[in-house]
Amino acid sequence: MYFAPAKNPKDIHIDHMSSDKSISHRAAIIAAMSDASEKPVRIKNYLQSEDTFATINALRKLGVSAEFRDNDLIIQGIGLRGIQNDAAIDVGNSGTLMRLLAGWLIGQKGRKFVLDGDESIRSRPMDRIIEPLNEMCINGAITSNNGHAPLTIIGGDLKGINYTSTVDSSQVKSAILLASLMANSPTAINQNRRTRAHTEDLLYLSGVPLNIRSHVILSEGRTEALHFPSTFSVPNDISSAAFLLTAAALTNKNFSCKDVSSNSARHGFIKWLTAIGRPVFHRHLPTHSRTMNIDLDQKFCTQSLQPSKITADLIPSLIDELPLVALIACLAKGRTQVTGALELRFKESDRISAIVEGLSELGADIEELEDGFVVNGKGYLEGGEMDSRGDHRIAMMGAIAGLVSEEGVKVNNFDAYKVSYPTFLDDLEEFGLINF
Ligand code: S3P
Repeated sequence: MYFAPAKNPKDIHIDHMSSDKSISHRAAIIAAMSDASEKPVRIKNYLQSEDTFATINALRKLGVSAEFRDNDLIIQGIGLRGIQNDAAIDVGNSGTLMRLLAGWLIGQKGRKFVLDGDESIRSRPMDRIIEPLNEMCINGAITSNNGHAPLTIIGGDLKGINYTSTVDSSQVKSAILLASLMANSPTAINQNRRTRAHTEDLLYLSGVPLNIRSHVILSEGRTEALHFPSTFSVPNDISSAAFLLTAAALTNKNFSCKDVSSNSARHGFIKWLTAIGRPVFHRHLPTHSRTMNIDLDQKFCTQSLQPSKITADLIPSLIDELPLVALIACLAKGRTQVTGALELRFKESDRISAIVEGLSELGADIEELEDGFVVNGKGYLEGGEMDSRGDHRIAMMGAIAGLVSEEGVKVNNFDAYKVSYPTFLDDLEEFGLINF
C-alpha cells in the first residue's frame, strides 16, 4: 500500500483507539483461569485484532466459553486446574499468547497440548519459557523443536523455583507467574530490569497477594482460586497510540488521547520524546487497580528534534516503540544511537534488520549494530519502497514514514498491521493523514 506525504494533517484528539494488546491477552487468560463457581466476567474494550482473536480461539479449544455480547467479551472461568480436554492450539502470530498460555497449561496434570503458530512464531525462541517451566514441573514436561514451536506440553504437578531472568521479558515473567499459582511452594522471580507489569496488576485485581519489591517478585503458590473482577475495561494501547503520537510530533500538530495503558516499565517512549524536544504531558487516571492508565497530551511544537542515546536500561520500557524511535531519529539532525536492544532481533521479525533495511530503502543514513542501530539524521526522509516482513510494527512504521517523507512510501505486505491495530487506517483517515 502507498502512503503519500500528508497534505492537510489535523490535530489528533482521540478518546478510543486500539485497545491494549498485552492487557487484552492477559485479561482473557486470567478471566478463564478464574473460579468456575463465579459469574461470567465482562471484558469491555477487548482488542478485536488477529492476535487477540487467536487468544479467544485458544480458550475455546480449552473448553472455555468466550463470546461477544454487545461488543463486550464475556468469559466464564473454568478454574486454575479446570481444563478437561487435550488440545492442539494455533497461536497464529502471537508470542504473548504462546508463552503465557504455556504457563497455565503446564499445570494441567495428565493433559497433553500442542502449541503451534505461523512461520514467524516458529522462528522465535521458546527455550526461555521451556527451561523454567520444565524446572517447575515435577511429573510433566514441555518438549520442542530445538527450543522452537511446535511445543508439546504434558501437564503435571508444579513446584516453586528461584528464577533469575536471563532476558528482560514480560512474557517469560508472566508464564512463570501464571504457573507459580499452581505450584506447591513459593516462587521468586528476580528481574534484571523491570518489564511491563500487567500480569502482576491483573493478578492483584484477582486477589493474588504477590509480594513485589523493586526487581523481585514473590509468589506464594498454592493459590486456591482466582477472582477476576466481574467487569474490567481494557485501556487504549500506548504502543498503538505511539504511531499517532509520532505522526503528530512530526507534522507539528497537537495530540491527545485518553485512558492509555501505562505503568512505570512502559513509559520509555513518552519520556524519550519529551527529552528530544517533543514534550508529552501525561496525567494519571484514578483506576480500580494498581494499573496506571494515563491521558496523553502533546502540544504543537516546532523545536528541533535532538539527537540522543538510548541504552539497555531504557529498552524494556520502549521495546515495541523502537521502530518509531528510528524513524523520528531520521527526521532529527545528528546522531541517535540505540544499544542494548538485542531482544529486538527476536520479535515478530528480526526488527533490527527490518528497521535498518526498511529505512535505508527510504534514503535514511542508518547503520546496523549487533544490539541496536545508529541513525545519522538528515532532518528529512526521501521515501521509496520497503517491506514489512510480515511484522505489524514495521508495516505501521512504514506508513508513518510515508506521511512525513518527501515522496511517499510504498509498504509491501502492509496487511500485517491487523495483528495489533486493525483500525489504523481509519484513524489515519480521520485525522487527515491519508485520503482514500
Ligand atoms: C509483551 C511483551 C514484550 C513486547 C510484546 C508484548 C507482552 O515482549 O515486545 O510486544 O504482552 O508481554 P517481551 O516481554 O518478550 O520483551
